[in-house]
Amino acid sequence: MTSLKLGIAGLGHVGCGLVDLVQKQESLRLPGKVEIAGVTARNRNRNRPVSTDQYEWFDDATRLAEDDSINVFVELIGGSDGPAKVAVETALKSGKAVITANKALIAMHGQELAELARENGVDLLFEASVAGGVPVVRVLRDSLAGVEVKRVTGILNGTCNFLASEMLASRRPYDVVLAEAQRLGYAEADPTLDVSGMDAAHKAAILAAIAFSADLDFSKVAVRGVDGVELLDLDLADRLGLRIKLIAEGKITKDDEVVCRVEPLAMPTGHPLARVNGSLNMVRVEGEPLGAVTLTGPGAGPGPTASAVMGDVAKLFNPIARPAFGRAEHHGIRKFVFADTDERSAFFLRVRLADRAGALAELTEALAESGVSVDKLLQDSADENGAAPVAIVTHTCSRREMNDASERVRELESSVGQPQIMAIEDSTD
Ligand code: HSE
Repeated sequence: MTSLKLGIAGLGHVGCGLVDLVQKQESLRLPGKVEIAGVTARNRNRNRPVSTDQYEWFDDATRLAEDDSINVFVELIGGSDGPAKVAVETALKSGKAVITANKALIAMHGQELAELARENGVDLLFEASVAGGVPVVRVLRDSLAGVEVKRVTGILNGTCNFLASEMLASRRPYDVVLAEAQRLGYAEADPTLDVSGMDAAHKAAILAAIAFSADLDFSKVAVRGVDGVELLDLDLADRLGLRIKLIAEGKITKDDEVVCRVEPLAMPTGHPLARVNGSLNMVRVEGEPLGAVTLTGPGAGPGPTASAVMGDVAKLFNPIARPAFGRAEHHGIRKFVFADTDERSAFFLRVRLADRAGALAELTEALAESGVSVDKLLQDSADENGAAPVAIVTHTCSRREMNDASERVRELESSVGQPQIMAIEDSTD
């Protein structure tokens, strides 16, 4: 193909970023010419940082998806269902290649859409759906096809990473830093998706499905976000030599099943993941006979994400209609499962204790009753409400023992508010 005709649905941050790149394509390295044949968005008259008046306007994304004037449908609407899904299905059925940045759509319906793409002999590309500008989907799917992947870990949400590093660095509270992430265009339209861990979970599930040739089952992805993490937690962890990060992980179990989860973890400040700050994302792929590969870069923001969309556009000059998740017919299909609770690690625990004699003893006793032993302990003076923050690093124990301990801690009369508990990522990683 020497010329591609895009239909762009969605003119938000990323859509405008893409229009901008198309308009300055002479400075890029595309193998042919890219035109915009039509555009659509919720609101035609909104003020936008790029001019779109010269492009044919469609009131409806589905109409654009099936229009003969386009050969590539670019979906930047968002949302796992509704107009985005209908339009993508329509485009695939009409024989158009589809490029999307929509991780929710791919995480929830990617497999059926991949099948639709295969039936219609067209490409479904979603590089921009994971880690923004970091080229990880195609690297994992194509470049690392010769690697038996054992584990994929990463920082997959720029907003959460920005929150965790900026709150600590600037000593500003959660709400203020979140508002800044929104202003910088990192956060989703609904930032709950970011802070609840859901956005990172969508991305982790996509990577795990590709890495392990697995049946993507989002209902089996365990998700915890940073919405309960306070400046106090970040500060106490810092004083114990730990950084708190929202970490995504996919790995193979001993029964050859796939565990995929997102949760805040604490890790030593020298850990490679601990050094990834701001809105940066990082993905580490471990496997045989490769060892490990790490990719880091801007995981959010209009420019980086639009550049990933443009990378997919460039790919379409030489389409090969490869299965969207890279899984060939002859591959065995692995299942997603929840992790078992035998997994062992050290844990970071933060509680607020009523400032009275014996409260600390009750806490350590509750831990001891569950078989959890204390490695380090730090206590500050009581705050204005009479509650003293206590942070503990435990010795290695199982998640089962820690869950049991956390139940006991919650029930302590001296415990004020919700305790914070997170596993500590192995420093030898
Ligand atoms: N809201 C996402 C993030 C960017 O903060 O990483 C788009 O995936």
